[in-house]
Amino acid sequence: VGIRVITLDEVDSTNEYAKSIVREVPEGTVVVAKRQTAGRGRKGRSWTSPEGGLWLSVILKPPKVDPRLVFVGALAVVDTLADFGIASGIKWPNDVWAGGKKIAGVLTEGKVGEYTILGVGLNVNNPIPEELRETATAMVNFTGVKLPLERVLERLLFHLDGWYRVLKERPEIMMAKVRERTFILGRVVRVVEDDDVLIGRAVDVLDDGSLLLDIGGQLRRVLYGDVSLRFF
Ligand code: BTN
Repeated sequence: VGIRVITLDEVDSTNEYAKSIVREVPEGTVVVAKRQTAGRGRKGRSWTSPEGGLWLSVILKPPKVDPRLVFVGALAVVDTLADFGIASGIKWPNDVWAGGKKIAGVLTEGKVGEYTILGVGLNVNNPIPEELRETATAMVNFTGVKLPLERVLERLLFHLDGWYRVLKERPEIMMAKVRERTFILGRVVRVVEDDDVLIGRAVDVLDDGSLLLDIGGQLRRVLYGDVSLRFF
């Protein structure tokens, strides 16, 4: 990851740009933009991406689509934050939280048998819009001084490369780390999966990446969903 890095000043979404060049570039190519005009989050939500944050997409060409690729992004962000002295954890499946707020999000998109785009949005020096300040934060709020984006990028690419290798070679080791970093385990959460709303205790992340919920003594596996912690 990161042998080739394409840097753009402005783009609609690095994930979209990455998709458009997927056939012309080798695996591991990274697209990074200073700002996105139509950054996207999960479930068609928009992702605010002004200058000062890290908005990037990695082009991966795994033999088959693997839902666990999202954890490569989340773990790499957690390790990058640790490099800068910031403690964080994974809010299954694709958010990274620090100090009780969201600091990064991962968006994977792919085409079976062809490619997976691993999009990572990390709030670094960018201001958080007023209406999101209750729930979102940025690295600069922890360090008090602006961080050199170049160095944050360099650390992030290093960790993305490392975790992608671990996923390919020793996936069970990666999943053990995911379990260790998933801070919702042991807590009562609300999970929205399609039209289902489930409330239960998060007990485990299984090897296939799904979340195991204990709903009044009944165990239920959730493949994907939106988790909230503050719902009462
Ligand atoms: C989420 O939390 O819902 C995922 C947010 C992912 C944002 C990143 S920023 C780089 C890449 N390009 C996009 O349009 N989205 C991802």
